[in-house]
Amino acid sequence: MGSNYSRIKTLYKSLIIFVAIILFFTTNNISSKEYTDRMDKEISVKRETRESFAAPIPSLDLNKMRLFTGGRHLFRRSWTPAPSSVKSLDGLGPVFNRVSCSGCHVKDGRGRPPKKDGKFRSMVIKLSRTEKGEIYPDPNYGYQLNDKSILGVPFEGKTSINYTIVNQKFDDGASIKLSKPIYSFHSLSFGQLHEDTKSSGRVAPVVFGLGLIEAIKEEDILKNADPKDIDKDGISGRAHKITDVPSKKIMIGKFGWKATRASLLHHITGAASQDMGLTSNIFPETNCTQTQKACLEQINGGDPEISDAQIERLLVYMQTLAPPRQRKAKEENIIQGRNLFKKVGCENCHTASYVTGKHPNHPELSNRIIKPYSDFLLHDMGKGLDDEVREGKAKSYEWKTPPLWGIGLIKIVNKHTRFLHDGRAKSIEEAILWHEGEGLRAKNNYMSLSLKNRKKLLAFLNSL
Ligand code: HEC
Ligand code: HEC
Repeated sequence: MGSNYSRIKTLYKSLIIFVAIILFFTTNNISSKEYTDRMDKEISVKRETRESFAAPIPSLDLNKMRLFTGGRHLFRRSWTPAPSSVKSLDGLGPVFNRVSCSGCHVKDGRGRPPKKDGKFRSMVIKLSRTEKGEIYPDPNYGYQLNDKSILGVPFEGKTSINYTIVNQKFDDGASIKLSKPIYSFHSLSFGQLHEDTKSSGRVAPVVFGLGLIEAIKEEDILKNADPKDIDKDGISGRAHKITDVPSKKIMIGKFGWKATRASLLHHITGAASQDMGLTSNIFPETNCTQTQKACLEQINGGDPEISDAQIERLLVYMQTLAPPRQRKAKEENIIQGRNLFKKVGCENCHTASYVTGKHPNHPELSNRIIKPYSDFLLHDMGKGLDDEVREGKAKSYEWKTPPLWGIGLIKIVNKHTRFLHDGRAKSIEEAILWHEGEGLRAKNNYMSLSLKNRKKLLAFLNSL
């Protein structure tokens, strides 16, 4: 009797182990390794404060820390019109959008559309028109509407935003109202925009973790590209190959809402020129169009206005701001949310992790595990997100998958929850509901989840 019972017990035990092993290998869930396979501690930080995005990577040495602090100072400093008593910080404008980088990238975080007062603080309007397949700037206003100017020079113009409402219904009957922006322009100093000029609102993205993104190997990005959708999963995704202006090399764009910049040097010097009117050795021309006489006649703040040494410090700052690590990663509902994220197909574009390649300036950033949740590819996101503005080789309906790291901390750091390139979404959920085109299947899968499961998926996103 006794030995029979223990034999059955052993058999029963082995059966359970057998089933457990089968389940482990066959479920769609991510392996337990992924939960321990967290971002390397040497390059990331865990904080839940307004300064969550403002920390340097922990492995910076004293020398680089000095450059980082100098860069932070420049990122936050207000620039002044020339001539000014502080020669190293003059040359603002003549036309511009903000007087400092941190004016838009508030606390190294993210911008938003105007509040009720209608003032554009951390968002810009890009302009362009297409003629015979080629992209041109607006003849009077260029590629970006500068809504501010120094004394004696007219600003270009102002923008107002109205929203139209779009209703969406979940499979369980619940509904939600989405808002789509419509831009109109007033106080234009040089007449109407060209009749073919189109406009695109862009909020300032977060600026941490960028050196690590710079260090991602191009081959690792190309691995996920499937421009002809050969695997027929409805998702193509293509790398945006652009000319990197500083190095003159053809590279894969990783920065900007349409992946128009491959290096941070390119992005920083471009920002200095377009957003603040500062000339550099890489972009030596002032940002006035030929019709803007007063703008062209202003004295400048030196040739160039922002020196190579200043650019170097800003560059180190942008390259070494640390990404935040996930919080509460081991909580049950977050793990379930993580599995749902994969199951409904979000991860087909929001690629979770990479091991970085070699960073040319900072060995601290090389060969690190990072978790940005992006494939850095352009995707057709459908009509709702099409604003008719093309950039480089990116179509008007194509957008780069934005990284999702830190997305749950925006509400703490920036005190808002506005998402997507133009900040139209008032919550993470609204951002998901704008996914169409290649993102439609994932969106529909999300909409068919139960309320409980939708909440778990959102809890996971908020833990990033
Ligand atoms: C007027 C607002 C504004 C100012 C001022 C501004 N930026 Fe930006 N920044 C933006 C916007 C908007 C984008 C996204 C542009 C796009 O892709 O269309 C951006 C993108 C960036 C990016 C790319 C981030 C990414 O992951 O795609 C970097 C880096 C950057 N800015 C650095 C700077 C620096 C350095 C300065 C100061 C010299 C600066 N910015 C000043 C609005 C601003
Ligand atoms: C086809 C590729 C693709 C898939 C699949 C996809 N996304 Fe996205 N996602 C994007 C792109 C591209 C954007 C940027 C769109 C824009 O700004 O106009 C985006 C934006 C977002 C944003 C806003 C990010 C920000 O910084 O504003 C969130 C949140 C998001 N996605 C979550 C999800 C979730 C959750 C899923 C699964 C239900 C999902 N995505 C599936 C490509 C994708």
